[in-house]
Amino acid sequence: MSKIAVVYWSGTGNTEAMAAAVLEGIKEKGADGLLLTSSEFDASMIDSLDAIAFGCPAMGAEVLEESEFEPMFTSCQSGLGGKRVALFGSYGWGDGEWMRSWEKTCEEAGIELACDSVICNEAPDGEAVAACKALGAALAE
Ligand SMILES: Cc1cc2nc3c(=O)[nH]c(=O)nc-3n(C[C@H](O)[C@H](O)[C@H](O)COP(=O)(O)O)c2cc1C
Repeated sequence: MSKIAVVYWSGTGNTEAMAAAVLEGIKEKGADGLLLTSSEFDASMIDSLDAIAFGCPAMGAEVLEESEFEPMFTSCQSGLGGKRVALFGSYGWGDGEWMRSWEKTCEEAGIELACDSVICNEAPDGEAVAACKALGAALAE
């Protein structure tokens, strides 16, 4: 059975709700899913996983959350080459620039994304929940 972690940071619960839907998609495919906040995850855990979904909202000025999530993700980058990885997160007033930057960071680090990233404005609606489930399912395939 494949083991997949959903690792997220969320200040007001929107990305957390997305993470829960990603986990549901993973479990519906019969894979072993694990929901962790960014403070519960570190690079030493990568080897034991088949795939990882990372979730973080747009923070600062179109960047990842800088005190916890960004340092965790940076420390993981060198271990993520060859892993199945996908990205998701919520945003507010922007146009998704933070996610484009995050995808570029991955590309430059040699991290190949397993499927399209999922972004949603504030709290996920039904369509965004379905997209998050599909992201989880894609990682479990
Ligand atoms: C300190 C702070 C900075 C933010 N910066 C941005 C931003 O640069 N672009 C944007 O679109 N939304 C920004 N937002 C809005 C959040 O991304 C949005 O409310 C999101 O739904 C929060 O997700 P969460 O509930 O998972 O924390 C910011 C919110 C906060 C509190």
